[in-house]
Amino acid sequence: MCGIVGYVGHDAVLPVLLDGLSRLEYRGYDSAGVAFIDQEQVKIRKKKGRIKNLEQALIEDGLLNRLEIHIGIGHTRWATHGAPSDENSHPHLSADGRIAVVHNGIIENYLELKRFLLDLGYEFQSETDTEVVAHLVEHHYHEHNDGDILAAVRRTIADLEGSYALGVLCADHPNQFIAARKDSPLVLGLGESCNYIASDIPAILSHTRRIVIMEDREIAQLTADAIILYDALGQIVTREPLLVTWDSEAAEKGGYEHFMMKEMHEEPKAVRDTVMPRLRENRIRFDSLNLDRAAINQLDRIRIVACGTAAHAGIVGKYIIEELCRIPVEVDVASEFRYRNPIVTDKTLTIIISQSGETLDTLAAMREAKRQGSQILAIVNVVGSSIAREADHVIYTVAGPEIAVASTKAYNTQLAALYLLAFQMAFEIGKIDAKQLEAYLTKMVDLPNLIEETLSHQDIIQRFAAEHFNAHSIFFIGRGLDFALSMEASLKLKEISYIHSEAYAGGELKHGTIALIEEGTLVVCPMTQPQLVDKMISNIREVKARGAVILGILTPECAKAAEVCDQVIELPSVDPLLAPIVAVTPTQLFAYYMTVNKGFDVDKPRNLAKSVTVE
Ligand code: G6P
Repeated sequence: MCGIVGYVGHDAVLPVLLDGLSRLEYRGYDSAGVAFIDQEQVKIRKKKGRIKNLEQALIEDGLLNRLEIHIGIGHTRWATHGAPSDENSHPHLSADGRIAVVHNGIIENYLELKRFLLDLGYEFQSETDTEVVAHLVEHHYHEHNDGDILAAVRRTIADLEGSYALGVLCADHPNQFIAARKDSPLVLGLGESCNYIASDIPAILSHTRRIVIMEDREIAQLTADAIILYDALGQIVTREPLLVTWDSEAAEKGGYEHFMMKEMHEEPKAVRDTVMPRLRENRIRFDSLNLDRAAINQLDRIRIVACGTAAHAGIVGKYIIEELCRIPVEVDVASEFRYRNPIVTDKTLTIIISQSGETLDTLAAMREAKRQGSQILAIVNVVGSSIAREADHVIYTVAGPEIAVASTKAYNTQLAALYLLAFQMAFEIGKIDAKQLEAYLTKMVDLPNLIEETLSHQDIIQRFAAEHFNAHSIFFIGRGLDFALSMEASLKLKEISYIHSEAYAGGELKHGTIALIEEGTLVVCPMTQPQLVDKMISNIREVKARGAVILGILTPECAKAAEVCDQVIELPSVDPLLAPIVAVTPTQLFAYYMTVNKGFDVDKPRNLAKSVTVE
């Protein structure tokens, strides 16, 4: 998704902007651009395609390392309004060419604003919603003619509906720029005689660890020496900066060929870091969560709302909470939840799951649930993100920064958090006793070792992928928790390898889709639920009879299914209830190696974004 970086200081700005933008590359983008002030003029350079195209243009024009250019804003665009092109790339200029704007988010009333501006005689160079912002700032700036760019931006955002993170540069003010946000993340970075903005902390982490997270409807005025932050009413806000403790190296590849591979190898640590701090004296302690017996008993239902991989973690959550707590759980993808008039009461607990904490569909769904009186518990990875700040309670996953677009370690940690929650609730309401709880916790502590063991089988998966990467269509089938896992396995494969894939409940394929199984179709079957293995064996025989090739992913307790598989990946022995957290890893490795064999960009799959901050 789009990225923003801005800098004002005394160094050459363009290398800082390019460095920042390249650290946001993982979020997905299709063009990049910068605006800067040079000899009292706002200049822009923008290019479709990779950041290196932009860098090349800056080198050719002799601009890249010019020291006297020390203020600028940069952007990577992920097209929403208008195709990827040089014209539609950001920054956008006002009609007089003296104001430049970068924008993340969507201006929902842009057509109405565009008509208003067209009537005033403004001409548009692009198809974007952002260009209206540039013209509108100019309009307000000229209308009041007071030289106050901050006031012009304030008046502009009062006209905007939708979401925005904005950086605004004005030729009349060569030593300052303005930032504003609503429903799209933006942080301020405090440097030594310089200051920064960024849509995501990794963009500026190599320069500063002192970060102020902007809240909705705030505006900031940045100069090299100061940042003045204003709330929606124009009052100055004083906010202590956060000190970011994780290293910029945590957001770098550290010797692995791809972030995705690095992040899969971080799964044992991520699960350990998520689980261990919550265990004290054989009990589970969540710092900011008080779900006691009375609070749980008055719940009429639990709703889990999320997108993508996080929604798949939610499906596992449903299975385990219902199994352990006997409380009804419904799972919705956030974009549906918001608009389908769901039944939510003050007796509903809504669990929101999000790695980034910024997914706009999820954020909007959370607000809707809150509006209807539900308590909100968020399971979030990014500290200080919008969802974390607005939820009533937060359980942080401790996965560290996840850079690859395809989510891996975040999923394991989301499951770990859901398991802890389910165990805790079941214990509180007496569905499991202290002994059972302790037994589960012992197994939770062992999970990182089991994931480690699973990772050690990666060469088998690599070989298998080398034989099958030309497959046109791959099915995943599973029963119970293996079905929940299959959905995530199938998503991972199609997200990055672009191979068509679907996940089916083992018993469901025969109700129609089995027609798609032909000689040689690959069917992947995770089997970790011994009580269901006989049924799976029957389902496998059904597809084998139509020519399917079977890859089984088996725990030793399901080993008897090996006889119907063409190839087997062995999992370590794991409690069936906890199995998805271990069994997901080989499916991620499978997606990874299929993609590597096909020669596609593992970390930056086409058309996808890491953090989707538009609806
Ligand atoms: C995007 C990403 C997915 C991710 C989903 C939810 O679609 O491409 O990988 O699962 O957003 O993201 P979140 O940050 O809310 O977990």
